[in-house]
Amino acid sequence: MVLQRTTVICVISAVVGVALGLFIGYFSRPAPTAPIYPTENPTISKLLMDEMKADNIMNNLNTLTSRPHIAGREQEEIVLVDWIKQQWTEAGIDSIVVHPYEVLLSYPKQNDSNYVSIKLANGTEIEQSQRKELVIDEEQNDPNVVDPFNAYSPPGEPEGELVYVNYATIEDFIALNRTHNISTVDKICISRYGSIFRGDKAIHAELYGCIGLILYSDPLDYTVPWSEVYPKDWFLPPTGAQRGSLLVDDGDPRTPNYPSISSAWHKSDSSLTLPKIPITPIGYIDAIKYLSKIGGPEVPTAWKGGMNITYRFGPGFAGDHVNSSMKMSVKTTNQVATIRNVIGYIRGGVEPDRYVLLGNHRDAWVFGAIDPSSGTATLMEIVRGFGAMLKRGWRPRRTLVFCSWGAEEYGLIGSTEWVEELQKELRARAVAYLNVDIAVEGNYSLAVDGVASLSQAVFDAAKSVPNPNPSEVSSGRPTLYDTWKFRFPASVGDKPSYHGLSSGSDYTAFLQIIGISSVDLRYTYDESIGLASYPVYHSVYETFELVENLVDPGFKIHLAMTQVWAELARKLADVLILPVDCRLYASDLAQKRDVLYQQYGSKMETHGIEFSQLNDSILIFTTSANSIHERIASIDSTNAYETRMINDQLMQLERAFIDQNPLPGRVSYRHVISAPNQHDTYGSTAFPAVVDAMFDIDNDPDQAGRWDEVRRQYSILVFHILSAAATLNPTVPTT
Ligand SMILES: *[C@@H]1O[C@H](CO)[C@@H](O)[C@H](O)[C@H]1NC(C)=O
Ligand SMILES: *[C@@H]1O[C@H](CO)[C@@H](O)[C@H](O)[C@H]1NC(C)=O
Ligand SMILES: *[C@@H]1O[C@H](CO)[C@@H](O)[C@H](O)[C@H]1NC(C)=O
Ligand SMILES: *[C@@H]1O[C@H](CO)[C@@H](O)[C@H](O)[C@H]1NC(C)=O
Ligand SMILES: *[C@@H]1O[C@H](CO)[C@@H](O)[C@H](O)[C@H]1NC(C)=O
Ligand SMILES: *[C@@H]1O[C@H](CO)[C@@H](O)[C@H](O)[C@H]1NC(C)=O
Ligand SMILES: *[C@@H]1O[C@H](CO)[C@@H](O)[C@H](O)[C@H]1NC(C)=O
Ligand SMILES: *[C@@H]1O[C@H](CO)[C@@H](O)[C@H](O)[C@H]1NC(C)=O
Ligand SMILES: [Zn+2]
Repeated sequence: MVLQRTTVICVISAVVGVALGLFIGYFSRPAPTAPIYPTENPTISKLLMDEMKADNIMNNLNTLTSRPHIAGREQEEIVLVDWIKQQWTEAGIDSIVVHPYEVLLSYPKQNDSNYVSIKLANGTEIEQSQRKELVIDEEQNDPNVVDPFNAYSPPGEPEGELVYVNYATIEDFIALNRTHNISTVDKICISRYGSIFRGDKAIHAELYGCIGLILYSDPLDYTVPWSEVYPKDWFLPPTGAQRGSLLVDDGDPRTPNYPSISSAWHKSDSSLTLPKIPITPIGYIDAIKYLSKIGGPEVPTAWKGGMNITYRFGPGFAGDHVNSSMKMSVKTTNQVATIRNVIGYIRGGVEPDRYVLLGNHRDAWVFGAIDPSSGTATLMEIVRGFGAMLKRGWRPRRTLVFCSWGAEEYGLIGSTEWVEELQKELRARAVAYLNVDIAVEGNYSLAVDGVASLSQAVFDAAKSVPNPNPSEVSSGRPTLYDTWKFRFPASVGDKPSYHGLSSGSDYTAFLQIIGISSVDLRYTYDESIGLASYPVYHSVYETFELVENLVDPGFKIHLAMTQVWAELARKLADVLILPVDCRLYASDLAQKRDVLYQQYGSKMETHGIEFSQLNDSILIFTTSANSIHERIASIDSTNAYETRMINDQLMQLERAFIDQNPLPGRVSYRHVISAPNQHDTYGSTAFPAVVDAMFDIDNDPDQAGRWDEVRRQYSILVFHILSAAATLNPTVPTT
């Protein structure tokens, strides 16, 4: 009986259970025709923007900058990684994965920091440079502050005659050699920071025979005349020195092109591509001691800095110090350390295998209040904002991926290793990578660079964000876009300026190695005042107080950056047809072609290069670009196959410009349309392989060989434009 009753109850509950299951299942399943999630919910944009708050960003920045957090050390790899995981878990995103990599980093020697000095003939050292920057606020007294150094310099104590090499560009060294007849062989060279990436200065100094390189911040490039310095104003104090890496080939130097995972093969220490001469930075409080004593002829006007001295080339000191030499004491060494990327995911509701990535690095040289923590503080608020939308029942169409990179400062190491590790997946699935390194380095204007095909999407996002500057609003410029267009107008058209990307932050591996459409956003200062960067860049003075009191009091600009970054990501993740405009790519190619033609056209033609081939390929690309947008205009948006097909073509366009081989002379860059400049990683070169092949070609005795290489690179370029055009065409040719 009991048994029977139990059986009956079981049967009844089974029937009810199945029915209930079916019932719940039926209602939780999508209706077959309507998508589960609206293709674009216009209220989400506003809800998301209203959700994010300036005060939260301020608190994030305060937490991030409370201690120095250099890559490979506990504060950065343990404390902040745990904090981010905990914050993102609270935000309610779907999953969080930490990717550790064991990589080669570099540090100065604690308690025996680097310095430079003048060595008298009897061996006494005088005028030693400061080993530490002067402590201004008590927090800078932290033992975790790493003293000024340049990462990956070898240790060494070279001595020799001093030569001033201006910015140490390739042109500066050529001018010293050919125009000024000044040899840098076996000399200690001193270069001011600015103009190009410091790692390229190191390469040039080594190439031209210097035995040591001192990098200093000249007041002309890091202050304005008569200005106060930090903490009264934001300009660089005399004792401030710029830390920074010398690594030119991105990623762990021991594993070029492949990830530093546990199974990785490592290059031997002696075969690494790293600087071979000792290099270290100093402030202008010290540089003036050496440059005021240097001898030799006076430098031309363009080489003069802002110190009240006569700038001379050298070699060596003059007057009382004619028998003295310059000495460097560099104790910097390489060390293996574990770095970590924190990756968070919000799964797409409709196309979970399509990724829109937002990335920012976490590591700083010291406190990093601007670089990169202004960016990290905004990324944290974006994740919280998207989490709040999830809690309201929203879910993006495509997957959002949030990336907190490790060891960017050392040479884009965290992002490069991750892209190397996940490259197959990313090539197949990544829609776009949106980078913010520094979110706010000034109060002048938004400044965005990126691939041409995303410029309109960026403009649209900027148009939807209210202007954080009230005086701009009252001048009739209500949005971020208006001030951007007003302050940085494009040279052609009624648009803001928007250029291609080279290198200098974590978009590099995405764009230059695997061809993922990338964008880099920041809010910047007025460039016309002639600064080489924001003044306290990579010094101990990049503090929370600097941002709170001088750069962005009230954190309104940070909030605007959060909104524009989030809105751009949301659009790319939510809109049915990707906001990628191939026609903009076509006009960008034509513009680049015009510049190439102006600069090199007649010379190339005299060496048998037919410009009509490039012209024709761009015309064919333009036709294909126009036709895909005609197809989009008449698309059946209820046909998932059709929309997915178009979206795949849009997503893959950038990949078509990636060569299977690295560009000549580069370890991993493969993008044939735009790459970092051969002699300045921060600069950008259009049609890089062709232009590089012509560098200083007139002075090469091997004219035939060099021009043959130009012709080879030109044919590779034309091939890529034609094949990119083909990827935009419908399935099969119609004849
Ligand atoms: C460095 O010097 C400071 C002050 O002289 C001392 O307190 C500290 O223990 C030293 N650290 C090391 C690693 O020698
Ligand atoms: C070296 O020369 C300087 C300047 O003439 C002098 O002050 C110093 O005492 C000398 N040192 C030695 C070790 O002779
Ligand atoms: C270049 O400098 C060297 C060594 O200082 C000197 O011997 C030579 O005459 C100079 N050449 C010219 C063209 O001035
Ligand atoms: C200039 O460079 C050439 C080629 O390396 C070298 O032979 C010459 O000595 C250099 N001249 C000076 C003044 O350094
Ligand atoms: C620059 O140096 C000269 C000579 O030492 C001095 O007379 C002049 O007052 C200085 N100028 C400034 C602005 O400091
Ligand atoms: C430099 O050394 C030379 C040779 O020893 C000597 O004649 C000269 O007086 C010294 N000059 C100075 C300023 O010490
Ligand atoms: C922007 O910053 C500069 C320099 O600190 C300051 O003079 C200016 O008033 C600021 N502008 C606004 C609108 O806050
Ligand atoms: C190619 O295009 C450039 C720039 O528009 C133009 O000046 C040139 O005449 C064209 N050359 C040929 C051969 O079509
Ligand atoms: Zn940075």
